[in-house]
Amino acid sequence: MIQANSVEKSSSSNPDDFFAKALAAEVSKRRNFAIISHPDAGKTTLTEKLLLYGGAIQQAGAVKARGEQRKVTSDWMELEKQRGISITSTVLQFDYGDTTINLLDTPGHQDFSEDTYRTLAAADNAVMLEDAAKGLEPQTRKLFEVCRMRHIPIFTFINKMDRPGQEPLALLDEIESELELLPWAVNWPIGSGEQFRGVIDRRSKEVVLFSRAERGKQSSERRLKLDDPKLQTLVEDELLEKALEELELLEAAGTVMDEELIHAGELTPVFFGSAMTNFGVRPFLDAFLEMAQLPVARNSSDGPIDPLDPNFSGFVFKLQANMDPRHRDRVAFVRVCSGRFEKDMTVRHARSGKNIRLSRPQKIFGQDRAVVDNAYPGDVIGLNNPGMFAIGDTLYKGQYVEYEGIPCFSPEIFSWLRNPNPSAFKNFRKGVNELREEGAIQILYDTDQSKRDPILAAVGQLQLEVVQHRLENEYGVTTRLDPMGFQVARWVSGGWKALDELGRIFNCKTVQDAWQRPVLLFKNDWNLNQLQEDHPDLALCAVAPVVSGVDPIKL
Ligand code: G4P
Repeated sequence: MIQANSVEKSSSSNPDDFFAKALAAEVSKRRNFAIISHPDAGKTTLTEKLLLYGGAIQQAGAVKARGEQRKVTSDWMELEKQRGISITSTVLQFDYGDTTINLLDTPGHQDFSEDTYRTLAAADNAVMLEDAAKGLEPQTRKLFEVCRMRHIPIFTFINKMDRPGQEPLALLDEIESELELLPWAVNWPIGSGEQFRGVIDRRSKEVVLFSRAERGKQSSERRLKLDDPKLQTLVEDELLEKALEELELLEAAGTVMDEELIHAGELTPVFFGSAMTNFGVRPFLDAFLEMAQLPVARNSSDGPIDPLDPNFSGFVFKLQANMDPRHRDRVAFVRVCSGRFEKDMTVRHARSGKNIRLSRPQKIFGQDRAVVDNAYPGDVIGLNNPGMFAIGDTLYKGQYVEYEGIPCFSPEIFSWLRNPNPSAFKNFRKGVNELREEGAIQILYDTDQSKRDPILAAVGQLQLEVVQHRLENEYGVTTRLDPMGFQVARWVSGGWKALDELGRIFNCKTVQDAWQRPVLLFKNDWNLNQLQEDHPDLALCAVAPVVSGVDPIKL
C-alpha cells in the first residue's frame, strides 16, 4: 500500500505541494460503498466473495463459518449468534490491486433499518443486490429511497443467476419503472438456472464463460471474443442467440452509459451473476471500481468541503458499545471526509468546542482491530468513545466546520421501559443513556417530570428486544416493557410555542425527545390526519430535525 509519505519528495520542493499530491494520490485510490438488499438476497455471500478477491480472507465460507474465522463476520453479538441474524454494521477495509476499498456493512434485519440509514450517510456508493427470482423487494425499495435522497450512485448486482429467475429484461424494466432509475446492463446473461453459461461483456464484446467452482474456490473465468468459432462448441446456439437478440433490443432502446448520470444517482450499471458460485463477481468488482464515485465533497455549515482540503475533518456516523465484551469498550465510527488523519492528532470537537487528542484510532475489521497511523477521505476509523461523541458530531482541524447531521427516522413502536428494581437504578440510567447515545434506540420522555420512566421508540420490535437483552447482559438490569399502543410519531416543527397556540388537542399524546422538543404520538394515521385537518397550519415532521451544538438531556 502506498503511504502518503512514500511519494517521491523530489517531485516538488514545496512541502504543501508534496502533501497535496500525496493526499490526492490516496483519495484517488479509495472507493467506499454499502450494500443494500432484502434479507436472503445474498449480501453475506457477496461480501464474502469480495473479501476473497481482495485477499482479506483466504477461503469462502469464512464469513459464515464457525470458530476462528467467524471473527470477520458482522454478526458477532450474542443475540445475533442466538438468532442467526445480522443486526449491527461494521466496516471492512481491504486492498484490491491498487485500490483501497471500504465496505460499510449494514444490518440485514429490517428492524434495524435506522442503523442502515446512518451507514448510508457515510457511503459514497451503494450496491443494490437483487435476487433474480424475486426482483425488487420491500427492504431494498426502502433503502433505495434513502440513497435517492442523498443522490448516491447505485450499482445493481442481480444475483442467483444459477437458479431459475425472472426474465432479465423484466428485471431491468422493474428498476426503470418502479425506481425511476435508468438501468444500463454492463453484462448480459446467457441462459439462467441450470443453463447459465456466463455473460456477454457489453463493452468489450467478449463472452465470459464461467465454470462452477468447487465451494470455497475462485472460479476460472475464460474469455472469448463473440466471433470466436470455439464459442459454438461451448454454448448452445439458442441460448447465445436469445442473449444477442435481447442485447439488440437494449441497444435499440438507446440508453448510453454515462458516468455523470451514474454519479448523480440517475443511472445504474447492472451486472448479472451468482455470488454463491462465483459467477460474475470479479468482473463486477473490476467494473465497479472503474465507475464508482471517489470520496466526494460533503455538505457542511461552510458549504461542500473538498476531500482534498488539507485540513482533516470527519463525522461520527455510528456508535457501538461493548463490541469486545472483554474490554467493555465504546467505539465511535468516524468517516474521514477531508485531509489526512494522523494518529495522536489533536482535533476540535465541533459540538463542545473542546480539543481532543486521538491517541488510539483503530481500524476495525469484523471483531479484529489494529491501530491506524493514517487514514484518508473515504476511510472509516474507530475511536475510543468515553461518552463524548454522539451520532452526527463533527471533528476537524483548522477552521470551524460542522457537517450536516444525520436525521432520526420516525419510530413506529413505543413502549415504556420499566425498571422494577430501584436498587439497580444507577445501572439502568447508565444503560439507557449509553444505548440512546449509541443510536441503538430513540428515547422519548413524558412531559410530566414525575413520570421518570423512559419511552423506547423503535422502528422494529426486535430493536426493543435487543435493548432489553443488552441492558441485562451488559448492565445487569432486568427490565419490563409496557407497550403504549401508538404507531405514529411526528415532530412539531414550530416547537412548544406552536403547540401552546393550538390549545387542547385530542387523540394524541405529547411527549418530548432528548432535545426537549415536542413529539406527538398517534394511535394510527387516521388520528394524525384528523389533527392535520383540524389544524392545517400546524407543521409536523416525520423525520426529526437535525440538532447541532446542543447536548441532549439524559435520564
Ligand atoms: P443475506 O446476507 O442477504 O441474508 O443472504 P445470504 O448471503 O446469507 O444468502 C441467503 C441464501 O442464498 C444462502 O442460502 C446462500 O447460500 C444463498 N445464495 C446466495 N447467493 C446465491 C447464488 O448466487 N445462488 C444460489 N443458488 N444461492 C445463493 P442458505 O441455504 O440460507 O445458506 P447456506 O446453507 O447456503 O449457507
